[in-house]
Amino acid sequence: MLEELLRAIREEGAVMRGALAAEIRAEEKSGPEDLVTNYDTLVQRHLEEKLHALLPQAGFLGEEGLRAPTGDGSVFIIDPIDGTMNFSRGYQRSSISVALARDGQAVLGAVYDPYLNELFWAERGRGAFCNGRPICVSDRPLERGIVMFGTAPYYREIAAKTFALGRALFDRSLDVRRSGSAAIDLCSVAAGRVEVFYEFRLSPWDYAAAGLILEEAGGVIRTIEGGPVSLTVKSSVLAANGTAWEAARQITQEVCRIDP
Ligand code: IPD
Ligand code: CA
Ligand code: CA
Repeated sequence: MLEELLRAIREEGAVMRGALAAEIRAEEKSGPEDLVTNYDTLVQRHLEEKLHALLPQAGFLGEEGLRAPTGDGSVFIIDPIDGTMNFSRGYQRSSISVALARDGQAVLGAVYDPYLNELFWAERGRGAFCNGRPICVSDRPLERGIVMFGTAPYYREIAAKTFALGRALFDRSLDVRRSGSAAIDLCSVAAGRVEVFYEFRLSPWDYAAAGLILEEAGGVIRTIEGGPVSLTVKSSVLAANGTAWEAARQITQEVCRIDP
């Protein structure tokens, strides 16, 4: 099952990688910053077909309007292209994200960056891997860390908090980054390349797979308010290695004035 799922994701990565600029057609969803391309729908459709053949009893939750109710409590959570804005412009920083959840908990997650040919995956309780090699978070403290964040671009009303926290974390770390793919950002924390990631509003398909990969790599992922992230509704996300976690959490609470 895992091998077949990884093969399906690699195949769809090749579809993304092979897309010629002239073939990519983008349409706006909620606004000009929220796009869907013909490749988002194509990759989602291919994944749905292939994963249905692997596990016919599972339901589907996919970003591009895929809502098939779950039969036996298992559901595939799919972001066919995480980083569509990047993809639509040939800025090669996007990924495919697939998680399998059972009874509300992610049990398997895979994120593929087709441009770097990096396939991250994890099964609950079995560790996290990138291209077959085990990965783990770094032990750098925040002061020696790099912070990644997403701008929640579809919800402009929360931008002030996003950038206030970015400034506060920048002041306590080495530097900040923004890639345009939340799944790659979370995998970057998992692989020990950066130390902290946050975004004030994401959807389950953005973090379901990468969140499991991060936890299996020894990291922490919670909502900014402090609870578990949801696999059914939108959540804020704060993620870090174990060493930087407490400082990142405290700064986040101060900036957001969250009572402990
Ligand atoms: C987006 C990316 C981006 C994040 C947005 C997401 P999409 O996903 O993950 O990094 O900042 O909040 O919606 O729309 O390209 O699949
Ligand atoms: Ca996404
Ligand atoms: Ca997407």
